[in-house]
Amino acid sequence: MSDLEKINSIFKDKINSVKTKEELQSIKTEFFGKNGQITLQFKKLGSLKPEEKKDFASKLNKIKESLSYQIEQKNFAIENQEINKKLQHEKIDVTLPVRPYHHGKIHPVSQVIDEISSIFSEIGFSVAEGPDVESEYNNFTALNTPEEHPARDMHDTFYLEKNKKLLLRTHTSPVQIRTMLNGKPPFKIIVPGRTYRCDSDQTHAPMFHQLEGLHIDKNVTMGHLKGCLDYFIKEFFEVKNVKMRFRPSHFPFTEPSAEVDIGYKIENEKIVIGDGDKWLEILGCGMVHPNVLKNVKVDPKKYQGFAFGMGIDRLAMLKYGINDLRSFFEADYRWLSHFGFDPLDVPTNYRGLSK
Ligand code: DAH
Repeated sequence: MSDLEKINSIFKDKINSVKTKEELQSIKTEFFGKNGQITLQFKKLGSLKPEEKKDFASKLNKIKESLSYQIEQKNFAIENQEINKKLQHEKIDVTLPVRPYHHGKIHPVSQVIDEISSIFSEIGFSVAEGPDVESEYNNFTALNTPEEHPARDMHDTFYLEKNKKLLLRTHTSPVQIRTMLNGKPPFKIIVPGRTYRCDSDQTHAPMFHQLEGLHIDKNVTMGHLKGCLDYFIKEFFEVKNVKMRFRPSHFPFTEPSAEVDIGYKIENEKIVIGDGDKWLEILGCGMVHPNVLKNVKVDPKKYQGFAFGMGIDRLAMLKYGINDLRSFFEADYRWLSHFGFDPLDVPTNYRGLSK
């Protein structure tokens, strides 16, 4: 048996009995280390006669490759074995309690804004927004509410400057102005957003939320306004029928103007919307005043339409049985975990995801 054949057979015996990575490493050193058996054979090459050299080198290289390959394979097999062993020990104990997992809740106001937006988007309204800090012009003047108009007092405005040019918007109506100044009719928008007035009790907070609606086109009538609000109330409160009454009212930016009441009754100490002999005021509305259209360079002889405004917080209180408006803004985590919405629970009338 030649030296190389001997090395090959010793290697075979050894590699077959290897069980661990450490044993494999020591075999690697034994054959390929500085004084390893294969290394020594390579060193021998220099002393060989040229005619023997070629044949020996070729055999030696073949053996070297074969041994390296076997070491690699063994290494792979040992790693696999180790993983399998680990997996056997790491069985999942399904009886263990799950780890506590806290995820946030959606605030009722955000939830209601989402619901409202998806209901109106179904009939062609898009969502517009405007800033909380507004000019006195957009908030009042352009909306046909001149300097000495009593409506300015009604609104208990937070002014930001002595000269009263900048204020915290008292309603979402200035977004009507911004939208119409920045585009061309027709307009069909809703505007959810924060609004501010110096006011605070169980049903009033200095910051609250409103939803504005505006639809301007060539033939938009009060009939469309009624149809639109009827559809919205039914969808929002998830009722088939709703009693609705339009009471004549006054807003500087609409003519004629109305306030809308919906019928309700109390059943088992809970409010039931739609039917009954009681009335609940829920919004103001009307046909956009020609002066407002003129102020935004829309020709009132060609275009007309309706607008409405309602309190989002109040809608949320009614729908979800919350009775103190101030609790909305106290950021009490316990309150939010009770009244908030699970982000993964899709409410029945929320069409954004399910349709
Ligand atoms: N801006 C009014 C308010 O804050 C609500 C309102 C009434 C808005 C009638 C409208 C409207 O667009 O047409 O009290």
